[in-house]
Amino acid sequence: MKETKYIDLTNTNDYTSLKEASLVLKQGGLVIFPTETVYGIGANGLDERAVLKIYEAKGRKSDNPLILHISNLDMLKDIVTEISPIEKELMTKFWPGPLTIILPKKDNVPNIVSAGLKTVGVRFPKNPIANTLIELTGVPIAAPSANISGRPSGTNISDIKDEFENKVDYIIDGGDSQVGLESTVVIVKDETIHILRPGKITKEDLLSITKNVEVDNHILSKTDNEPVLSPGMKYRHYAPKTPCVLVYSKDETKLINAIKEETRKTNNYLILTNSKHAKVLDNAIIYGDTLEEISHNIFKLLREVDKKNVDLIIIEGVETKDLGLAIMNRLLRACSYNSIEV
Ligand code: TXA
Ligand code: MG
Repeated sequence: MKETKYIDLTNTNDYTSLKEASLVLKQGGLVIFPTETVYGIGANGLDERAVLKIYEAKGRKSDNPLILHISNLDMLKDIVTEISPIEKELMTKFWPGPLTIILPKKDNVPNIVSAGLKTVGVRFPKNPIANTLIELTGVPIAAPSANISGRPSGTNISDIKDEFENKVDYIIDGGDSQVGLESTVVIVKDETIHILRPGKITKEDLLSITKNVEVDNHILSKTDNEPVLSPGMKYRHYAPKTPCVLVYSKDETKLINAIKEETRKTNNYLILTNSKHAKVLDNAIIYGDTLEEISHNIFKLLREVDKKNVDLIIIEGVETKDLGLAIMNRLLRACSYNSIEV
């Protein structure tokens, strides 16, 4: 067991202390660092042995590939073979930012990063701590979300500490993750942008590049062993241990009635909802009043309510447009697709 070192950057713009973390990365160690989406558990993305440690620390299946994080466009030339005009436009418009693009990979990206695929996911994060750390390390950083596989992604230091204390070399505290949901993952095929995982960069945003934007079928429905474009789609994810049900209706009265109907199943339940509906429901916890607030809070809340020993968590759904698509994608999976729409 190793002793994790902490770097607290919540109240400073002086990032000189990142130098020591970057040295550890160069030497093959693991560093948890903030990005604007969620925290990442990072290793030198070109060092096979270092990357293997990520899979071990997370308990991640070896067929689920990792994203490489870069801090300048020059880094692309070492890791991808070609970039199409649409991919170039995506980079110009949305990088640095919460967008991951799946690109054809070069041979020097170890197969363990891409889980044997010929492609690799690349993201240029906007968070200045992430940027400085990658820049100081000088290599692409492989980093999945900082959580034990299957659990909600880590968006704050306390949740991360619970899972990774003494399993990684460094944890860098940059405060609560701003977006709170992982990046949008896209692949461009035949001049069409396919959304493999929805996120803060929405379908509506991507339509500014081309009208050919497709939302993958599996984003709002279960995979039943059929082939998927992104291995991550297959896995149970974000799931609290407590049974959850997702309830949604466009009609407010029907929605409240449907939630009340669920509450009759047990005395020991909790509801995640907005502040308006919390006034007319018992045992309600407010998850936010805008899509941005819900996105920011939801993973932390899922962990919190899971610790309260209730029999049922009832979660109010949102409309599947804009950031709502990403929220519903995560909530459906958190509830293992146990959902009611009235
Ligand atoms: O916001 C984020 O993306 C965070 C931060 C740390 O950057 N990272 C993150 O990584 O969420 P991870 O590993 O938890 O999710 C990456 C997703 C997985 O669902 C994986 O299957 C998919 O991206 N993915 C990675 N490489 C891929 C590839 N070559 N082809 C298809 N899907 C890929
Ligand atoms: Mg993840």
